[in-house]
Amino acid sequence: MLDGKRILLIVAGGVAAYKSLILVRRLRERGVSVRSVLTAGGAEFVTPLSLAALTEDKVYRDLFSLTDESEMGHIRLSREADLVVVAPATADLMAKMAAGLADDLASTALLATDKPVLIAPAMNVEMWGHAATQANIALLERRGVLRVGPGAGDLACGETGSGRMAEPEEIVVAIENALAGRASGALGVSASGALAGKRAVVTSGPTWEPIDPVRYIANRSSGKQGHAVAAALARHGAEVTLVTGPTHEPDPANVGMCRIETAREMLDACMAALPADIAVCAAAVADWRVREAAGEKLKKENGGLPALELAENPDILHRLANLENRRPPLVVGFAAETGNVVAYAREKRRRKGCDWILANDVSPGTGTFGGERNTIHLIDEEDRVEHWPTAGKAEVAERLALRIAGRFAAA
Ligand SMILES: Cc1cc2nc3c(=O)[nH]c(=O)nc-3n(C[C@H](O)[C@H](O)[C@H](O)COP(=O)(O)O)c2cc1C
Repeated sequence: MLDGKRILLIVAGGVAAYKSLILVRRLRERGVSVRSVLTAGGAEFVTPLSLAALTEDKVYRDLFSLTDESEMGHIRLSREADLVVVAPATADLMAKMAAGLADDLASTALLATDKPVLIAPAMNVEMWGHAATQANIALLERRGVLRVGPGAGDLACGETGSGRMAEPEEIVVAIENALAGRASGALGVSASGALAGKRAVVTSGPTWEPIDPVRYIANRSSGKQGHAVAAALARHGAEVTLVTGPTHEPDPANVGMCRIETAREMLDACMAALPADIAVCAAAVADWRVREAAGEKLKKENGGLPALELAENPDILHRLANLENRRPPLVVGFAAETGNVVAYAREKRRRKGCDWILANDVSPGTGTFGGERNTIHLIDEEDRVEHWPTAGKAEVAERLALRIAGRFAAA
């Protein structure tokens, strides 16, 4: 989708500039040619050499450089791209953009460009919340500047709150949307809330089914994908309840947390979170539990092997998708398969009665369970299949959130 596209990347002076190096790698992996402009502030955080090495191109820094100007020229620089991306976008640079200043190469290129501009703001929470910054953002968005992030969380300055630059994978998705013409101020523009007013319930992680007070049946789910989905929906403005089994994942920002252990507790918590517009079932719910968990620790010394009689657990996805009165209008399930992924997932979508299934291959060696990346095949309500490129779980979550926002926008 991005292969052959040209991006002008402006890196300004914020701590998050290091993430822009990762962004360059993600873009280069997708066949994008990246030309970069580094502000004087930006050069305090990343070196021109790093940017040059990763972009495999010259780094432009100086408005009044005789050689740069004769070779390329700031007007050509700003126009020989399909999209201009500013990451990180500092409070300073956004103020210059809003005021129409052009006192360095970055601000001049931004004023001279005739191409769409996508900004990824990053700054301290107070700087972000300041009336001046907010007024500048509002003005830029009215003029059609696209925005991704910022998210909330721990900031590099040691404070917590809004101001954290979107992750490189999220910026990649926003770039795809911008180039596909799907982002118009609202989509791909996390904080402005394409899902504002929508309620979502998301399940994540494994369940633990007790055998006795100290032992349980579990699985290898890490909760990374479900937590990332909850975070992405919240970033897009949804009011999210995350019902999660035991995981080591940090709580996503601006998400209501509900911690459970067993499948039956997960079902109860999901029901309690209704009504909702969106249900995303990403948890790896144990299919079976021990029918009668022992009240006391089973003793080895008693001799023999304990006979564990299993009972079937409730099917949470099926229940949510088949509710008579309170069925969420969009029910999304995940299908972890180890072969024939699409065929099984299609069958699962029909059997469960949900709207979409996100199928992924969890065969040993794919590294999906507990890993960082995921290869998704989305089967929609018409049984059509979308093959998504292998991506980080945050990117998958962002893509899903945008897909969900698109579905509600079209409804
Ligand atoms: C250690 C340090 C970290 C900074 N981090 C940020 C930041 O994350 N976001 C921001 O808007 N400004 C940040 N600043 C302030 C900018 O670097 C400063 O406003 C600079 O003039 C920006 O220049 P530029 O917008 O031309 O790149 C930081 C400054 C320092 C010294």
